[in-house]
Amino acid sequence: MDLEQKLAQTLAVLRGIEAEYSPAMFANSFGAEDMVITDLIARHGLDIGVFSLDTGRLPAETYDLMATVRQAYPTTQVVTFFPSAASVEHYVNTHGINAFYESVAMRKECCRIRKLEPLARALAGKKAWITGLRREQSPTRTDMAHQEWDEGNGLAKFNPLLEWTEKEVWAYLRGNNVPYNKLHDQFYPSIGCAPCTRSVALGEDVRAGRWWWENPEFKECGLHAKA
Ligand code: ADX
Ligand code: SF4
Repeated sequence: MDLEQKLAQTLAVLRGIEAEYSPAMFANSFGAEDMVITDLIARHGLDIGVFSLDTGRLPAETYDLMATVRQAYPTTQVVTFFPSAASVEHYVNTHGINAFYESVAMRKECCRIRKLEPLARALAGKKAWITGLRREQSPTRTDMAHQEWDEGNGLAKFNPLLEWTEKEVWAYLRGNNVPYNKLHDQFYPSIGCAPCTRSVALGEDVRAGRWWWENPEFKECGLHAKA
């Protein structure tokens, strides 16, 4: 399937979600894949909400892109969800500001507070959510389905870019003049929180820079955990 066909298929999936799963939400991390979906929603005026989880530890470049998106897509508001102030205060004051480096458990607890709890609030009362996950991103994503049931949050989950290659994502972004995170120009193919993301070397896996100190099988924050 070429890019044009994948694009048509992706748009058809998004229109189907709009028609049958309203209210639906797209989870936007402002990574390259997510900018494809943001652009499609805005360009075609789709009735799909867009939200972002601001962990409080995002790179400056991600905040810059958030501001750019607000100007570039005035009709598509990206709603921000923050973690609970009390939970972050408790974690930081008990364990330290960078305790996520100490163990997988500490890292998962930070992701739970800063991402999972806000995600649950973002998805409450919704029928479906949409992600920019791609199959080739990680060994943990090879057996993902285009449509899943998110047991934890109790709603349908769609991954419409699952079969897109990295090259196709960039062909879409360049071809349509879509703004993107400047960290991608500095060998950051996958971008999360600043302290948990670094650049990758030539030939390294696209997610090698995420939680680089952990084993590959632990490298999911829980947003996409199997129930
Ligand atoms: S993660 O689980 O390792 O953080 P990744 O960064 O690959 O995930 O992003 C996969 C998808 O999860 C994104 O395309 C997006 O839909 C969703 N996502 C990840 N982080 C966020 C975030 N901070 N805000 C909103 N959605 C997010
Ligand atoms: Fe915390 Fe790092 Fe997870 Fe961000 S990615 S929520 S800083 S552990």
